[in-house]
Amino acid sequence: MKLVIVGTGYVGLVTGACFAEFGHSVTCIDKDEKRLEILKSGKCPFFEPGMDELLDKHINKTKLISFKSNIKNNLENSDIIFITVGTPIKRLEEETDLSAVWQVAEEIADNIKKYCLVVTKSTVPVGTTREIKKIILGKVDQKLFDIVSNPEFLREGSAINDFIRPDRVIIGTENKKSENIMKELYRPLFLKETPIVATSIETSEIIKYASNSFLATKIAFINEVADLCEVVGADVQQVAHAMGIDKRIGSKFLNAGPGFGGSCFPKDVKAFASTAKKKNIDLSIINAVNKSNQDRIIKISDKIISNIENKSTICFLGLSFKPNTDDVRDSTSMKIASKLFEKGFNIQCYDPEAMNNAKKENSNLVFFNSAYDACEGASAIIIGTEWNEFRALNFKKISKILKEKIIFDLRNIYTPEDLNELGFKYYGTGK
Ligand SMILES: NC(=O)c1ccc[n+]([C@@H]2O[C@H](COP(=O)([O-])OP(=O)(O)OC[C@H]3O[C@@H](n4cnc5c(N)ncnc54)[C@H](O)[C@@H]3O)[C@@H](O)[C@H]2O)c1
Repeated sequence: MKLVIVGTGYVGLVTGACFAEFGHSVTCIDKDEKRLEILKSGKCPFFEPGMDELLDKHINKTKLISFKSNIKNNLENSDIIFITVGTPIKRLEEETDLSAVWQVAEEIADNIKKYCLVVTKSTVPVGTTREIKKIILGKVDQKLFDIVSNPEFLREGSAINDFIRPDRVIIGTENKKSENIMKELYRPLFLKETPIVATSIETSEIIKYASNSFLATKIAFINEVADLCEVVGADVQQVAHAMGIDKRIGSKFLNAGPGFGGSCFPKDVKAFASTAKKKNIDLSIINAVNKSNQDRIIKISDKIISNIENKSTICFLGLSFKPNTDDVRDSTSMKIASKLFEKGFNIQCYDPEAMNNAKKENSNLVFFNSAYDACEGASAIIIGTEWNEFRALNFKKISKILKEKIIFDLRNIYTPEDLNELGFKYYGTGK
């Protein structure tokens, strides 16, 4: 099939590269010229394991992927057009900024020449895909297109594997014709027996928000349990482990920590609640999850401040919102580091992949090229993101270069016993 993908971010580019891997011919479109330049040179503009190799294969060898800077004249012969642009939260309101989606819908409407599917893969509030249909219908006959909702569930850091081996694929359509085209597109997965769930468009849009909000709820829940554990001397890791053995609960997303961050959960939780509010439905649990998660940054920062000397130097390890990505959007590490800087601390930080993005977001932090360099002269270490390279730090070496031996292990990757033995004051999360 001939596919067009509009938006070459984490989702669009992974989608394009993986569909090329299935043998489809893919045109990726982005309005960001700098990003296109990097892509045309065969490189991935962000860090995602496996992407450089996959792009090299399909740009330079199979030549199944090409890049263009606009939709105009590039929809000819296309069977499916995916919208994968960003859908952030508006700055001062807790609702989704859909301006990029509307713009793309207008451009698609101006350029459709033959029958195709227009698919929303971006995460969009319920009702958006139908609004896209209205925009296109303003200029194009209904016979020339169908709309589909096909939300994406990949996770940064394991995006290729998540796309090629998903737990399920959701296809929201208005008719059998478009459902069958989408099933044909995903046929390689179907053969691997991946469940393909066919629904209405509205159901599909809700599935995405309900899934992310549920996972965010699990995280916020265990974080509040962690607070109680800390006060009464219980261990939240043991609590979570024992809870997770119960198959009704499951062990995933029960790791206590500094809260959920990243480009999806924080915005999706807010958008889900605000969409419901417009329909006079109070998603009170989701609102509480959002508040609990926002309060957590202050709670964790206060805990750190109250246990170290004011205005000292702190070593901050891990800035991305999770390991194996360079994405710092809504990263809890960035928020806590920034808060501590505002309170007068000097922050020496290091991240294996996210330093360029972190520098753009907060140039007040001081950046070092290794974890050990960032520890030099610091009065405490904070582990904010559980990158593998932080799991076996040489604490004997670190002991010699630190000013004071204090560690805040926000992700519980060490045990108090290990660190106390080496003379560290150890503060984990919920233990
Ligand atoms: N990042 C994730 O892990 C993830 C996972 C699942 C779903 N999603 C959803 O997928 C969508 C995209 O997320 P992302 O992280 O890939 O975003 P992103 O910000 O990384 O990428 C968006 C891309 O769209 C481009 N763009 C914006 N307006 C455009 C236009 N008018 N024409 C052409 N290109 C345009 C931007 O230049 C950018 O390259 C969002 O709705 C997000 O919620 C993201």
